[in-house]
Amino acid sequence: MAELLCPVVIGRGAESGVLLSALAAAGDGAGGVVFLAGEAGIGKSRLATALATEARARGVRVLTGRAVPASAASPYRPLTEALLQALRGLPFPADDGLAPWRPALRAIVPAIAGGERDGHGDHTPAVRGEAVLQLLRRLGGPSGLLLVLEDLHWADPDTLAILEYLSDNLPTEPVLCVATCRDEPATPAAELMTRLHGRRAAARLALGRLTPGKSPRWYARACRLRPRMSSPACSAWPMEFRSWSRSLWPRRGCQARSAKQSGSGWRA
Ligand SMILES: Nc1ncnc2c1ncn2[C@@H]1O[C@H](COP(=O)(O)OP(=O)(O)OP(=O)(O)O)[C@@H](O)[C@H]1O
Ligand SMILES: [Mg+2]
Repeated sequence: MAELLCPVVIGRGAESGVLLSALAAAGDGAGGVVFLAGEAGIGKSRLATALATEARARGVRVLTGRAVPASAASPYRPLTEALLQALRGLPFPADDGLAPWRPALRAIVPAIAGGERDGHGDHTPAVRGEAVLQLLRRLGGPSGLLLVLEDLHWADPDTLAILEYLSDNLPTEPVLCVATCRDEPATPAAELMTRLHGRRAAARLALGRLTPGKSPRWYARACRLRPRMSSPACSAWPMEFRSWSRSLWPRRGCQARSAKQSGSGWRA
């Protein structure tokens, strides 16, 4: 069964504006790392997905990788997934400038040929970080590249070390990295996010619960809700919106009229 989605992104106008500005800046060669932080179900992935849709519409290449609960035992899982996605069906960029970085890259994307004699187990995190940066730079199109790394609260230490390197070095590259991460409970990723934000090496957008500052009619129209039938469909909606709608329509609940997301839905 298809997931029921609210057809528009609600209540995230400020965050969307920051992300779109960061995307535009990356297109001009001033990239960086932006963390989307918050509790489970608050809307981090929804925002990242909407940005990715908008980026594709603007001709920006999008790569996505995800950490999973078993990632801690699986080095580089989100980066490997994103880079394999890029190289699926495409040859490795033919660029002599990449040759020195191939050995370090093979730890992350083993399928990369070349540099066998150099081995691949003795590179420092900085060398691997630079190798990833060099590859990302070449994988982007004229409008840059968006790298979405999801669920970093499950990420392994090697992935986090590269992310730290990217945070310090993407500001002069046409690459924007958007990383989603739960901020509780405390994890190495959450600690890194706080540290990078503290020294201004990365931006951190903390997603709070939506405050219904708009009229009920506005919300009902924006989300195509009908306050007339109870429905388990509400389980797919942001948690704060669910509790808000329950308080508004305590007996009847709400139902999504449309099961499909329409476009990127930047109509917060
Ligand atoms: N601003 C929003 N407007 C409309 N729907 C939203 C919004 N935020 C979240 N949702 C919906 O709420 C549900 C949960 O959101 P999402 O998966 O993005 O949460 P998350 O923060 O990524 O959670 P997790 O930490 O578990 O990955 C999804 O069905 C999503 O489409
Ligand atoms: Mg998510």
